Formats: sequence, C-alpha cells, structure tokens
Amino acid sequence: MPAEYSLPQFVADLRSITAATADEREILRRIAPLAERLAANPGLPDAPAIHSNVEKGFSFNLLHEEPDRTLAVALLSWLPSGATLPHNHGTWGIVVGLAGAEKNIFWRRLDDGSRAGYAELERVGEMECILGQALVLPSPTIHSVENSTAEPSVSLHIYGKNVYYTGRSQFDIVNKRELPWGVKAS
Ligand SMILES: [Fe+2]
Repeated sequence: MPAEYSLPQFVADLRSITAATADEREILRRIAPLAERLAANPGLPDAPAIHSNVEKGFSFNLLHEEPDRTLAVALLSWLPSGATLPHNHGTWGIVVGLAGAEKNIFWRRLDDGSRAGYAELERVGEMECILGQALVLPSPTIHSVENSTAEPSVSLHIYGKNVYYTGRSQFDIVNKRELPWGVKAS
C-alpha cells in the first residue's frame, strides 16, 4: 500500500512541473491527476473554519504558497446559499471537490475589454463539481460558484498564483461592470 500523497510531495511536484514547462495546458494536464491524489489524502483538513462573513458565504484557507505567492494551494468552503459573483482568476486554476456540492457557472465575455470598468457577460454553461475529480480552469476562465444545498461544501484549489494577488476581477452582470477583486475587496 503506497504512502498517502502528502501536501509537501504535491508542492515539490508543482515546483518541478512549473520549472519544466511554461505551457499552461501542459501544466494543467500534469497537475490535475496529482491534485486528485492529494484530494484523496484523508490527512487533509476536511472541515476548514468558515471565517468569512455570512454575507460573503465562503472562506479561503491557504495551505501553501511560495514566497512570491505562486503555486497557491487552498481549501475553500461555501456555506449553504453561499455564492461568488462571476470572476476571473488572473492565473490558471484546478479545483477538486472534497465534500458537499458546488455548482460552477461559466461565463463568456461579449465586449472587447477596451472600455475601463465595463464588461458584458453571457452565461454559457454550468457544471456540478464531482467529488474527487479535478476541474481545470485555464487562465481566461470566467466562472461563478454557488452552493445551493443545505450543507457546507469543501474543495481543494490550486492556482498558478494566490488569486488575491493576481489583479483578478469580479463582474456585476446587471450593471455591466468589471470590478477589481484583490485583498482589499475580499
Ligand atoms: Fe473562482
């Protein structure tokens, strides 16, 4: 019986994969199965503290990042009825569901991004997070996440860089606004 795949082993693999190639598709292809192996480790905390306020409805619990904030590994948890606005990440991401249900809603940008603060988005699809299976989010992805069940959800997230420091955006669909989503706005 092989030993559990640990967080330090995963981080070492993240380092060697991203040192070997800058091709995002290749990085995602190689990390996705490793993220599933890490998610299967019962030693991962399975009930992170939900320290976010009820209004926000989710929490971000960082497990690892490099000194320059790259290679971020985090556990996120959504409360019942918790949701995000549509947002991008400013980096690649991989999500593996650990508990509960999270719905990912995907969006496509219709405008060309040339007008500061303006954004027009169209909903293009949705997908329930499947427990234990990696969901790959290439850098251009715009999605929103919601937990419409009565139980909190938990998921493992890996990002090319800690998303609070990538210059990512949130989107106000009704007013067609693009809003910065950094540390201060979290
Ligand atoms: Fe996201």
